[in-house]
Amino acid sequence: MKPIGLLDGKIIDLNENVVPMEDRGHQFGDGVYEVTRVYNGHCFALKPHMDRLYRSLRELTIPAVYTYEELAEFHELLIKESGITDGAIYLQITRGVAPRAHGFPETVVPRLTMSIRPGSATPSKNVLEGGKGLLIPDERWLRCDIKSLNLLGNVMGKQKAKDAGCVEGIQVRDGIVTEGTSSNFFVVKDEVVWTHPRCNLILTGITRTILIDKILPDLGLVLVEKKFDEAFAKSAQEAFITGTNSEIIPILALSRQPVGNGSIGPITSKIRDAYWALIDEECKRK
Ligand SMILES: Cc1ncc(COP(=O)(O)O)c(C=O)c1O
Repeated sequence: MKPIGLLDGKIIDLNENVVPMEDRGHQFGDGVYEVTRVYNGHCFALKPHMDRLYRSLRELTIPAVYTYEELAEFHELLIKESGITDGAIYLQITRGVAPRAHGFPETVVPRLTMSIRPGSATPSKNVLEGGKGLLIPDERWLRCDIKSLNLLGNVMGKQKAKDAGCVEGIQVRDGIVTEGTSSNFFVVKDEVVWTHPRCNLILTGITRTILIDKILPDLGLVLVEKKFDEAFAKSAQEAFITGTNSEIIPILALSRQPVGNGSIGPITSKIRDAYWALIDEECKRK
C-alpha cells in the first residue's frame, strides 16, 4: 500500500507535493504539531494530545478550525485507509499560506497536514534494555512549553547525543537539568521520583502527565516536581526518560558515568510495566 497522508481532511499520497512555497510553517516554523502513538489500531491518549494541541494553537494565536471530533475522525481515517495497526500519527497545523512577512497576515487559513507511519508492535530495544544519556547545554528558546515546529535546538542536541552513542541528550540550562530533546527526564533518589517542574522551560509531556496523575500515585510513589542540577542527577540511583515515542527508556549512564549500578532499576521497571498495562487496557492489546 502507498504511504498516505492527509491534507485539510482529505487523504492524499504522502509523496504528493502539497507544501506551497509561502506556507508560514515552511518559511518561519510558524505552526504546531502533535505525535500520537497507534497501538493495535487504536490511538493512545488522543484526547490529552489534542487538548495540548489546542493550547499550543492558543499560545501562538493560530485559530483552531477543526473540532476535537473532526481531528479524532482524521486519526481514525488514517488508521483505516493505511491498514497500519502499530505506528505513529504526525499532525501539523501551520498559520497558513501568505506572502512572506514576519507580522501575521490579516486573513489566512491554518493548514492541517497529517501522516501515519508503521512501527513495531513490540517495545524498542532502548525501551527494553535502556540506553545512555548525554548531558548537553539547553540552547532552545524560552517557550519550550509550546509544541511548536521550531525544533532546531532539539535537533542539534539529539544529533550530539547520537554522535556520542547515546539515546538522548539531557539538556541543562543555567546548571539545572530541564528535559530531553524529545522526552521528559526523571531521576529516582532514595525511592523519591524527581522531575523538572512544569513551566515555560519544558514541554508538559503527555507521558509525563500520565505518570504524575496516574502511574506514580497508583504505585504509591512519591513525586517531587523541583529543579535539580547535574550533580544531583549523577548521584541518583535510577534515571529514565518519557515520551510518546520513547515510552519509558531507562537511562543507565549520564555522560559516561553509570547511574546507580548501571542497570535498570526496580522503580523504573515498575513504572514501565504500569505504562504498558495502561496501553494494553486503553488499546485493548491483550
Ligand atoms: C522537548 C520534548 N519534551 C518532552 C516530550 C515528551 O512529550 P510526550 O510525552 O507528550 O510525547 C517531547 C516529545 O516529543 C518533546 O519533544
